[in-house]
Amino acid sequence: MDENKKLTNEVGAPVADNENSITAGPRGPVVMQDVWLMEKMAHFNREVIPERRMHAKGWGAYGNLTVTGDISKYTKAKVLQPGAKTDLFIRFSTVAGERGAADAERDIRGVAVKFYTEEGNWDLVGNNTPTFFIRDVHNFSDLNRAVKRDPRTGMRSAQNNWDFWTLLPESFHQRTIVMSDRGIPASFRNMHFYGEHTFSFYNDKNERVWCKFHFHTQQGIKNLTNEEATAICGKDRESHGRDLFEAIERGDYPKWTLYVQIMTEEQAKNHYENPFDITKIWRHKEFPLIEVGVLELNRNPENYFAEVEQSAFTPAHVVPGIGFSPDRFLQGRLFAYGDAQRYRLGVNHNHIPVNRAKCEVNEYHRDGAMRVDGNYGRLPAYSPNSDGYWSPQPDVAEPPLELEGAMYRFDPKDDPTDDNFRAGGELYRLMTEDKRKLLIENTAADIAPVTDNVKYRHAVHCYLADAEYGERITAAMGLDFDKVKELSKLDNDGLIQATLKP
Ligand code: HEM
Repeated sequence: MDENKKLTNEVGAPVADNENSITAGPRGPVVMQDVWLMEKMAHFNREVIPERRMHAKGWGAYGNLTVTGDISKYTKAKVLQPGAKTDLFIRFSTVAGERGAADAERDIRGVAVKFYTEEGNWDLVGNNTPTFFIRDVHNFSDLNRAVKRDPRTGMRSAQNNWDFWTLLPESFHQRTIVMSDRGIPASFRNMHFYGEHTFSFYNDKNERVWCKFHFHTQQGIKNLTNEEATAICGKDRESHGRDLFEAIERGDYPKWTLYVQIMTEEQAKNHYENPFDITKIWRHKEFPLIEVGVLELNRNPENYFAEVEQSAFTPAHVVPGIGFSPDRFLQGRLFAYGDAQRYRLGVNHNHIPVNRAKCEVNEYHRDGAMRVDGNYGRLPAYSPNSDGYWSPQPDVAEPPLELEGAMYRFDPKDDPTDDNFRAGGELYRLMTEDKRKLLIENTAADIAPVTDNVKYRHAVHCYLADAEYGERITAAMGLDFDKVKELSKLDNDGLIQATLKP
């Protein structure tokens, strides 16, 4: 910080006056020569960068992960070895709302964590739900068009939202979660979060297992009702960000316990559902949670734009011992984030301090807009070179993955193991009566503006998941239960055909 508090221009020269423009005469026009004024206006005009296409509204904090368990037989990642303590940056977000939207809206919450490990940055870019609406990357831009603004009115549209969701039955479990009490968390501190996808671990013998990441809040789960959330949004659009910031400022550091689930390659081959389908979950009874460590948040950023807005996470950033899986949705994400960030922040976004690795970075990327470090000076810019600069490290290579089958556009609905309603039905049956009641009320309120044909699709899905769920939602939406039962005899294509017209 500049202790003398004297104003300079952008290249350090003193500024004489920051309030009065230079004019030709006391009442005359401004002159071009007021270069400080020109610079000030020009900079201001360029201060907005594109917001994230989704997850635009978010809040960040620093902290660390301390490993208390021992999963070294599964992974050689140094960040996950017993006793390891690693600095991290986290960003929480809503998904559909723009940068100025209110925090306390019914939506899923994004939770992106950047671990600054000694082997490079590992980003885990997850959500507060263990599953997702869709499972093929093709559907992702459409999902966002459906939940964001209508092209004609510029308004959010329940019709578009529910039309899209109900045309894709695989979204049923996630629909149920979002409409449940968990659809509006009381704060970021009071929710779990998940990596969602199946990832992989490999150990120092290069043996692979599949894994999922779960972070359980130590603050307890707390949620808001629609009425509570509406009252909060009317008073404070930043309620979740404020809660997080103030808790950290007063030293009440939020914590989450990290667990993993492990599935062997053999188990995956024989699993009764596709273990790489993000719309499916791994049941805890079959794949128990293994405790790994504690994530604590304990420092607020100094500058929102520099650290939170310019933070850039991507599932493509993994470290030795942690890998991807054949999940086709994850595969799509591996490209999408870096691509979005090259547009949003520029090709050198990984040099921005919040994104910069804390370990040595030895790479051959050069030049590009806003290259503000030494650009590796005189070191060779090509590889291989005779100076021995920087050779690949084959010892970190992942074990090979056996694949089978033809190359084709396979539709998961043609997979005989595919059941889109099982997990949603299980969740409904796990709910206590007060939670079931809330689920039905929240859904009925959210879907109220939507046409009956779309409501019927949702009612049929609920009925296929659980007869009581179907019956209660049908009554709450004011539909005919006999018709729901009739429609439920159709296959998915038949249901869509029968419910195309309002
Ligand atoms: C194929 C599916 C998906 C695609 C193509 C996709 C793409 C994107 C893109 C382009 C961004 C903006 C990145 C930026 O501008 O920095 C973003 C943000 C985000 N996405 Fe996804 N996404 C997908 C699915 C998911 C899933 C399944 C999750 C959770 C498991 C997720 C969690 C997030 C989070 C948390 C952010 C905000 C990151 C931040 O705080 O900066 N996304 N996504």
